Amino acid sequence: MMKLQALTVFVVIAHAHALKGEHAGPFGKHANIARQQSAALGYDPNSIPPLTAITSGMATGTTYAPTATFSPGSKPTAFSNAPQIPTFTVNPTDWPAMDKPPPTDTPQVQAWMLELEGHNIPDIPPTVDGTCGGDPTAAAAAEQNGWWTCGGWTRDTDIIDCPDKMTWGVSFDDGPAPYTQKLLNYMNSKDITATFFVVGSRALQYPDLLIEEYMAGHEISVHTWAHPPLTSRSTAQIVAELGWTRLIIQKILGITPTTMRSPYGDLDDRVRAIALAMGMIPIQWTRAPSGLTFDTNDWRVAGGTVIGTDQMAIFDSILSNATVMDNGFIVLQHDLFEITVDLAIGYTLPAATNHQPPFQLQRIGQCNNIPMSNMYVETNTNTTFPGAGATNATSPLPTAGHGPGLSNTTVSITNTSSANGSSGATATNENVPTGDATTFSLPVLGAVVAAGFAAFATMF
Ligand SMILES: *[C@@H]1O[C@H](CO)[C@@H](O)[C@H](O)[C@H]1NC(C)=O
Ligand SMILES: *[C@@H]1O[C@H](CO)[C@@H](O)[C@H](O)[C@H]1NC(C)=O
Ligand SMILES: *[C@@H]1O[C@H](CO)[C@@H](O)[C@H](O)[C@H]1NC(C)=O
Ligand SMILES: *[C@@H]1O[C@H](CO)[C@@H](O)[C@H](O)[C@H]1NC(C)=O
Ligand SMILES: *[C@@H]1O[C@H](CO)[C@@H](O)[C@H](O)[C@H]1NC(C)=O
Ligand SMILES: *[C@@H]1O[C@H](CO)[C@@H](O)[C@H](O)[C@H]1NC(C)=O
Repeated sequence: MMKLQALTVFVVIAHAHALKGEHAGPFGKHANIARQQSAALGYDPNSIPPLTAITSGMATGTTYAPTATFSPGSKPTAFSNAPQIPTFTVNPTDWPAMDKPPPTDTPQVQAWMLELEGHNIPDIPPTVDGTCGGDPTAAAAAEQNGWWTCGGWTRDTDIIDCPDKMTWGVSFDDGPAPYTQKLLNYMNSKDITATFFVVGSRALQYPDLLIEEYMAGHEISVHTWAHPPLTSRSTAQIVAELGWTRLIIQKILGITPTTMRSPYGDLDDRVRAIALAMGMIPIQWTRAPSGLTFDTNDWRVAGGTVIGTDQMAIFDSILSNATVMDNGFIVLQHDLFEITVDLAIGYTLPAATNHQPPFQLQRIGQCNNIPMSNMYVETNTNTTFPGAGATNATSPLPTAGHGPGLSNTTVSITNTSSANGSSGATATNENVPTGDATTFSLPVLGAVVAAGFAAFATMF
């Protein structure tokens, strides 16, 4: 905050000099102009390093505080029937420990388990670690179980692309985080809105940034509480991850998302059925017919395994694949780190908007013609939308599994794998080549996320 105020004072003084035609000061005329722009943009475009310099360990730059404090009672203007932002008091003792799998033996999780009643949750054993190499038995059954990680299997209940050619569904995972506001300021200056897949632990840490995202017209969706590969978790653990994240979003914003994304895209028919039973439609990122996943690999730059130029080469492949596809696509990016935010602001988003013909950057719900009101339980009016009728996160929680109209029954898990999963939908195999990034991404991103979290502890 101090830095922002100092910058503003400097810009005002420099501007006065410029008007008088005087010398622009110690940084020269161009720097002066850039600084005037930076005040208008809400971030300093000169702060984005050259691509070759975007690498793990680069010097950190300015973080930006939320631009405005939205008081309880505010409503976003992006959709008409939004409820008011409630009063939220950060009290970490009300919530599971940050970045740890929430315990399953709590009344909340027992209550959320009851949402699975009446739904067919396939009896697929948890995978060893969410990777193909770590669980050859599960990998062999990937097609049968609709396991995206090993072969790109999807069901027609999944949102996997945007229908219209040259349309890019923009998504940022794992925040909100200290550089999220810089990204929001950039997108505001370019009139771009995106879908944010929110980690519950980060929402607890940075509730004001979550409010900023929502109030600026971006879509808010559930990621998880502690970012595990969900296929490796028990059904109760998955319910806990989704339930707590859904709840903290609801407590901060007053809305309950009807969509979710699995960390690492690690989704199979069991995870899918649990998410849908809890009223959340899974959203993946796109795989091109060539097998290329539309993962910008920005997280690998933050993790130190590639540098910015490598990442842009991958991104260029994504764009050139996208130009020959009949449909639009969804791209994976992250707002967790300064590096991933700088890559988006300085390189990937401009590359798409400057492309000829330009790509249309849209929110994922928007590009799929889903009204923003359908993105949340409280405002959805479409009774056939998969999330309709889902328990909203403010429903009273029965204590220890007992509540009005709810019985203390164990959730019945039925094996529907012979019908190709929860919806009986057909699977699609995108023929992902062996050596697909997802087979070794988990430990890397896990280390990145852990290092990032350690860094955040000292940052503020
Ligand atoms: C799509 O991506 C693959 C993998 O990077 C690449 O080999 C191929 O040339 C790309 N296709 C087009 C049309 O750019
Ligand atoms: C309601 O949702 C369903 C399922 O997503 C969709 O097919 C239908 O077009 C939607 N109806 C309206 C009026 O938006
Ligand atoms: C949420 O659920 C509670 C309890 O079932 C209900 O009273 C309330 O009206 C619901 N709120 C919304 C916005 O749907
Ligand atoms: C609910 O049922 C389970 C399984 O029978 C039992 O272990 C648990 O004690 C019951 N909980 C309560 C609060 O009665
Ligand atoms: C589930 O069904 C499939 C297909 O019928 C079968 O191969 C598998 O053994 C079943 N799993 C369990 C745990 O019953
Ligand atoms: C399951 O999906 C596979 C791949 O699409 C298909 O070959 C098979 O017939 C399906 N099985 C059933 C029972 O629908």
